[in-house]
Amino acid sequence: MISNLIGDRVRSIGLPAVKRAAGVVTRLLPIPQPTLLVGPGSSARLGQAVGGFGHRLVLIVTDQVVSKLGLFEPLTEALAAAGTSFVIFDEVTADAPIAVIEKGIEFFTRQGCDAIVAIGGGSVMDAAKVIGLAAANDRHPRSLVGYFRSLHGPAPIYAVPTTAGTGSEVTVAAVISDPQHEKKLVIADTRIVPKMAALDPLLMTGLPKPVTAATGMDALTHAIEAYIGYWGTSFSDRMALSAVSMIYENLPLACNDGANLAAREKMALASTYAGLAFTRANVGNAHAIAHQLGGKYHTPHGLANAIVLPHVLRFSAPEIIDKLATLALRAKVGNESEPKGELANRFLDSVELLAASVGIPRHLDALREHDIPALAKAACWEADTNYPVPRRMTQDDCEALLRAILPEQPEVKPSVPRKKAAAKRPARKSAPPVAAKAPRRRSAKTQ
Ligand SMILES: NC(=O)c1ccc[n+]([C@@H]2O[C@H](COP(=O)([O-])OP(=O)(O)OC[C@H]3O[C@@H](n4cnc5c(N)ncnc54)[C@H](O)[C@@H]3O)[C@@H](O)[C@H]2O)c1
Ligand SMILES: [Fe+2]
Repeated sequence: MISNLIGDRVRSIGLPAVKRAAGVVTRLLPIPQPTLLVGPGSSARLGQAVGGFGHRLVLIVTDQVVSKLGLFEPLTEALAAAGTSFVIFDEVTADAPIAVIEKGIEFFTRQGCDAIVAIGGGSVMDAAKVIGLAAANDRHPRSLVGYFRSLHGPAPIYAVPTTAGTGSEVTVAAVISDPQHEKKLVIADTRIVPKMAALDPLLMTGLPKPVTAATGMDALTHAIEAYIGYWGTSFSDRMALSAVSMIYENLPLACNDGANLAAREKMALASTYAGLAFTRANVGNAHAIAHQLGGKYHTPHGLANAIVLPHVLRFSAPEIIDKLATLALRAKVGNESEPKGELANRFLDSVELLAASVGIPRHLDALREHDIPALAKAACWEADTNYPVPRRMTQDDCEALLRAILPEQPEVKPSVPRKKAAAKRPARKSAPPVAAKAPRRRSAKTQ
């Protein structure tokens, strides 16, 4: 307890200064941007382009779902038509576990590949980035965790996202998982940004509604956290605010009608814009918490962010009223004649309503009270050492945020005989409210 307090004090004094200095560096850091191909059929156009680059053997990285749906066929047909050979590694599973990546590295090396096309969600794209980087440096993925930990860049990576959420097609990050230690690990390097990406809405029409909703809320979290943090630039702010507008307008449409190509394309673009924003300005407390939930309970990343985001925003609100007011205007949930405080509250409410409208639960079934102290400690450490958050979480703050999403206890029915009524669970302390307004309760099951 005392060591927690001392550690907390040291971190609260020293780290903000270090992070502000790091913010100056990241503002100036050259981050490459991939060539973007956008629209129905763009995955085939990416195949044509890559087919013209003279690669000897391309590794296609994907997962079983994408493989069974045949989503890579337009791409591989275009590669074949251009006379480019390819091999397929379709064993990626959720959150890119280290063991899967080890297999991919071995396959890439044994086959003698010289380029990678990732086609899938964030798990696939991140696995591909790490396969390429580890193979180029003959290093184990674990030793690459952190910032710029390797000598050589990977073979060229090309990306075709099939979810609209992570933005990994444009980011410097790869998030992998270490199931043995129940952790998610981040590898960041500007050289793992793909060279080219295709945003093809035709590949996304079969994305189930819960995945559409959760991944779309991940993109919203990227945009909001990039905007409210203190590393933003005029470019990242522009990207973040455009992403917020597009997500508010198109996420409900894409969820209600998966075949709505226009909405799917806008969501794919919004996810990329949000990726461009946060790869420069970074994320925040919601991600720090979501990563712990993903590591411990395998909660899908977007779902964890979506459940946590409203609480983190209410907690941060006192420091970011102006920014929340701007977000309200861009989300079209208020108008300029209203006072900023009013607009800020409108935005806070609207995030909860948007999440509820696409079926995001308010509580996480998997979360256990006895895990909260350790989860909070790890989340505070991740946020303190990485993210330019507008309001710093202490251990107590973070525990309160987590307690607010504990699953609801089923109501205890009075047992027979009635006189001996069962004790009720004491009321839970919830996250510090700004203007709490509670939509109906739902609880999350792992999707
Ligand atoms: N690198 C980054 O910058 C970054 C940013 C945010 C998140 N992430 C990481 O990305 C991972 C999550 O990625 P995700 O949210 O895209 O989920 P995911 O890649 O795990 O995919 C979710 C599910 O959707 C399926 N799926 C994918 N595309 C489909 C399609 N078109 N039709 C039907 N099913 C489809 C997948 O097979 C999978 O079962 C997490 O590990 C997260 O930490 C990375
Ligand atoms: Fe994310």
